[in-house]
Formats: sequence, C-alpha cells, structure tokens
Amino acid sequence: MRSRLLIPLAMSILANTASGEIRYIAAKKIWHIESGPVSYVLGVNERNELQPIYWGKRLWRDDDLAAAHSEREWASFDLSSTTTPQEYPGWGGGRYIEPCLKVTLPDGVRDLVLKYAAQRIEGDNLEIDLKDMAYDLAVTLHYRAFPDTGMIRKWAVIANRTNHGITLESAQAGSWTLPRGDGYRFNYLAGRWAGEWQMQQTPIHPGLQVIESRRGNTSQQANPWFAIDDGQANEQTGRIWFGALGWSGNWRLSIEQTPHQQVRVTGGFNPFDFSYPLASGEKLETPPFYAGFTEGGFGEMSRLLHRFERAHVLPGGLTSRLRPVLYNSWEATEFSVDEAGQKALAEKAAKLGVERFVMDDGWFGARNNDHAGLGDWTVNPKKFPNGLGPLIDRVNQLGMDFGIWVEPEMVNPDSDLYRKHPDWAMNFRDRPRTEARNQLDLNMARDDVKEYIFGVLDKLLGENPKIAFLKWDMNRNFSEPGWPEASPADARKLWVAYTRNVYEIIDRLRAKYPKLEIESCSGGGGRVDLGILNRTDEVWTSDNTDAFDRLRIQEGLTQAYTPKIMMDWVTDVPNFNGRSTPLQYRFLVAMTGSLGIGGNLNKWSEADMGLAARMVALYKSIRKTVQEGLLYRLFSPRSDAFSAAQYVAEDGSQSVLFAFRTAQHFGYPAPVVRLSGLDERAIYRVKTIDSKLLDKVENASGAYLMNHGLNLRLGGDFDSTAILFEKIQ
Ligand code: DGJ
Repeated sequence: MRSRLLIPLAMSILANTASGEIRYIAAKKIWHIESGPVSYVLGVNERNELQPIYWGKRLWRDDDLAAAHSEREWASFDLSSTTTPQEYPGWGGGRYIEPCLKVTLPDGVRDLVLKYAAQRIEGDNLEIDLKDMAYDLAVTLHYRAFPDTGMIRKWAVIANRTNHGITLESAQAGSWTLPRGDGYRFNYLAGRWAGEWQMQQTPIHPGLQVIESRRGNTSQQANPWFAIDDGQANEQTGRIWFGALGWSGNWRLSIEQTPHQQVRVTGGFNPFDFSYPLASGEKLETPPFYAGFTEGGFGEMSRLLHRFERAHVLPGGLTSRLRPVLYNSWEATEFSVDEAGQKALAEKAAKLGVERFVMDDGWFGARNNDHAGLGDWTVNPKKFPNGLGPLIDRVNQLGMDFGIWVEPEMVNPDSDLYRKHPDWAMNFRDRPRTEARNQLDLNMARDDVKEYIFGVLDKLLGENPKIAFLKWDMNRNFSEPGWPEASPADARKLWVAYTRNVYEIIDRLRAKYPKLEIESCSGGGGRVDLGILNRTDEVWTSDNTDAFDRLRIQEGLTQAYTPKIMMDWVTDVPNFNGRSTPLQYRFLVAMTGSLGIGGNLNKWSEADMGLAARMVALYKSIRKTVQEGLLYRLFSPRSDAFSAAQYVAEDGSQSVLFAFRTAQHFGYPAPVVRLSGLDERAIYRVKTIDSKLLDKVENASGAYLMNHGLNLRLGGDFDSTAILFEKIQ
C-alpha cells in the first residue's frame, strides 16, 4: 500500500492510459464502460428498465458481472419499483426516489415509465435510448469515457416525438449510484461573497441533502461539485466518488440515501421554478455531468480533476499556453481610470516583468461610480479623448498585451441603454425591479438582447484588434426573472435560455477572434463551473484578496479546479479586512495559482518593486509546475497555524514547496515537512529563496525529502518561504 502511494500521479495515469473500452455484453444485456482505472457498469433488467450495476475501481473480468435484476418489494410502502435502482428514473409508476425526468404529457398524464429501446457504441461513446411505455417521448442517454483519468461524462437529450406539446418539470443530466452502503461522507464547497470555496464535510444520512443555485448563475454560495468519500478518506488515501456539472445557470445536486442504503447523486437543471415546454418535434439537451473515482484520497481526486480539466474541458486542451503574469488596476484606481493614469501604472507593471495589463471597470459611458453607465459600452471621451488606441499601443510597446473589463449582461437604470430599452431588463410587468449594486440583469434569454450584446462586444474587439483579453464580470444574481414578451408557458425557459445565450456569445466571439482569452468573474468566484470553463481560460477566484483568507479560499477552489485557472492578485495592505501581511507572503500565496498583481504600484517603495520583480522572475521559472503540475496539499490552511503545498512537474523534473506560518506560540517549531510525489532514487538540487531551511541541504535524494523531510525556520506571524527542487540525476 505504502509503495503504491509513492507512485506519482503522472505515472499512475500513464499506467492506465493503455485501455479504455465500452463493451455491450448482449447475452446479459449489460454495458461495461472501462474508463482507464475506473469501471462503470449498467444493464437492462427483466422489466426492460435501465439499471446501474457498478461504479468504482476497474474490474477486469466481464464473466464476474451478472445481469441486472429488479429488487424485491419491501412492503406496500416500498414497492419493487422504488427499491430497484434506476439509471435515469422518470417520475411515475410507484417511484419515490429523486427523478431524473418529470413531465406533464399532452392529455394531462403525469406518469412517466421509461423503458430501454436501443443502444449505439462508437469508440469512447455510448448512447442508450429510453422511451416511455406508451407515449413517443424519448430520452437518449449519452456517455463518454476519458480513459486517461477515469472520468465519464453523461448527459441526456429529451425529445418530444408526440404530436402535442409536453412540459418538462424536472430535467436532470443523470444520476450516479454508489455501491450500496452506509457511512459515506459528503464533501462540498460553500461560501459567500468574498468568502467562496469553503470546504464542507458532513455525514450522508437517510433522506436528501441538496446543494443548489436559484440565483441564475453558478453562485458563490455553493458550487456544482461533489466528493463522496467512504467515511475515512484523507488527503493521501481512501475511496472517493466525485463529480461536477457543466452548467452556469440554476443547478441542483441532490445526494440521496434511500431506506435501503442506496446512495445516489442526481444533478442537472434546478427543478425549482423550472417549467420547460417542448413543442412537438422539439428537444432539450441537459448540461453535462462529469464524474470519476479514486482510491487515492482527496489529493489524487484533485490531481485527476486538474488534469482532466486541462486535457478535456479548458479551451486549447493540453497545448494551451501558460497563464501570463497579469496586472489589474481595479484595487489601485477603482473607477478613476484615464489614459495618463493607466499608462503610468503600465510602465511600472512592465518593470516588474508583468506580461498582461488589464484595465478594469470605469472606462466607458458615464461610469464614475457604480450608479451609472453599465450598458453604454462606448469609451468615455473625457477619460480617453483619443479612444483606447494610445493606451493599448503604449501597453504593447512596453511588451505586455492588453485586457479590458466588461460586464455585458448588466444595465444601470441610469444609462442610455436602459432609457431606450427598459423592457430589456428582466422584470415582471408592473412590478418593482430589485436593484443590486444599482444595476439590473438584462434578459439575455431574448434573442434581440443576445444579438445586441454580441454586436457591442464584436464592435469593441473589431475596433481594437489588439485587445487580447476580456475580464467578463457579472455583479449580481437574478431577481424578478420575468419575460413579459414570452407567452406565460414559455417565460420560464429564461432559466435555461439565458445561460445558453451567454455561452453562445462567448463561443461566437472566440470563433471570430481566435486569439482572445477570457476570464470568468462574478463578483469574484460566482461563475466557476465546467460549463463556463469549457469556453474561458481562467477565473477570478474571489474579491477577497487578503493573503491569509486566500489560503483557505484557494485551497477550496483547487479541490475541484486546476490551479491554472485560479487568478490570484498581490494587493496592498492593510487589506479590506484590516489585516497586514508581508509582501513576500502575499506574493507566495498568489504564486500558488496564476499570478497577478493588483496593488497601487504608484505607492510601492523601491524595495517593494525590487522584491516584486524577483518574485515575478521566480514565478516564471516555476509556473509550468504550478499551473500544469501535480498538487500535493501537505498541510491544510484549514488548520490555520501552518500550511504547505507542493507542486511536482508532470515529468518529475522540478518541484516547488510553498510554506506559510500564520502565528507561532513562543518556541514552538514549525512541523517537519515531508515531501510527496518525488522519485525516491533521484537526486534533487535544493534551492531556498531566503535560507529558511534549518538543515543545510544543498542536494538530496527523493527518499530523504519524502521520509526524513525538511525542518523550516518559520517563526514570526505570516512568515513564509518557497523551496525549489530540480532533479539532477
Ligand atoms: C467585481 C470584480 O470581482 C472586481 O474584481 C472588479 O472587477 C469589480 N467588479 C469592478 O466593478
């Protein structure tokens, strides 16, 4: 067991890449989806229902697998129809579990009994057709295996082939059924504005536990990701079934333990206020629902997800470029942007080695504070009398590319756009419109609004072809989500159409401007999920840039998402919560993800500028390892006093350790740090940035570093260090 844990992830992944196959075993009517190290098995039972059979570590012998069979009735209260697990249960026919699909059929019938109809296998893809026992309502379940990580993606397409309209009341991507059992724990991410990504753990008990968003976007309050562990998993070991939805609108994950110890996770569109009419011939495709399995604890779970996201979700895949070091002016200037001020900041940023300069809010319309201007995406002539050209040119001359902030889905009532099109804001007729940050949501579900917003952004990018990057913000949640111009029956399609139209705008922009990169931001980390990540390059982690708070926030985000997308800025102190931490500490915290700087460089001393330039250079020498390597969380910041994270390059050639001490009881030493993921037999050159190693170690074997470990001289409050390890033989 011990030696298995020492195998670096890259090697354990490679060991399994050889295989992945989807087989239909006709004699038993079962499918075996082999996805690298994982098996997912489902079958058709004697009632022609599709039933999950197994999900976990890969099985190698199909002969071991029995055909699906229904479970017995427990009592007149728990019929066989509800004790028998189903892969994609409709609501009807005596089932009380969480349904994947709930409908009202043409004649008012609300009973849906889905039976197996057909299947197709093509490479790593499987499609299974289900059909209602009587009506021509068809569901195609799609499965795609990713053998390099063991991940599987499933989603459903619901087709109305009847001659009448039907209404969907719940449409889920699917459900994942765990091995029958007790004692599981549910791990998830919850939070709030400026406090996103807080890891939670709670026992799974009989009944339903739900996490969701009813806010119109992914939300800061909960994230559509789950990890269910066997009750004992830790960072290094333990069985974990995990997954995430690719959807940036209202979503829901329901974790259910039936009275018969069946544990399942159902996810998709949030059924809250959901009503989706499907006309004859129409279809609805659900969001994708991804899931994986590991025996290697939370650490390996995250490493699998990180690699999977880089390989299969993010634009550009494994060949996409490393994230550039970015400067953003928001905390320095807020809305007070102008050509001279931005140029002055850009000159200072360039001296530090910054590669991308981003101008934030305040450059357009009558935008001098958050009361006006949103919606009027024309350059403010007082602040930029010659347009954006001179600033962009100067930024480019300084060797940086240029990025700009937009919040396209929003409108201030005090704007020309709203005065012209008050109907474009979401509203219920003749009822008040709740403002948040003095702004309203545009109804992006409307095709005319979608086209207008695409046109605005297309014009901005067309007129300024050197804009390399958009920070796409969204600073409020929906309220009064009405759509008076749609028929009452269609009005609730807004929940789905809004997100789909935002996706479409981004996809069209990226197709037209292939070099454009985009950061997803929603007042911090309010829109981070595998749907938006399929079309954006990075995310704004949190509006909370206090380095100490950030340790937990960033640890939480990287449970589910790769550090490559995690934008972290170094900002000024005292921070907005009144705390001051040393500049090195702030840099090292930000360097555990994608490094940015957000302080007011006009106020930085020469010594600060010198340290910053050294830190940026250091970051560039390790960023491939940080952004694309294997993350080992050695000491969690959830314990507050001390934390450490280590990154190992996928090819094993480099590793970097970051260690942070928050406070010290007098005379109490920092814990010994034993590294992970190295090659026991290799020798590494050890390079400290500030001589905080107690033992003089200039080079050391992997065995020494992982077993003897390192003693660090980290004493004072908010002390920090980084140590580099280069494999020399
Ligand atoms: C919220 C973002 O999270 C901030 O970084 C900044 O862009 C402001 N919006 C600007 O209004």
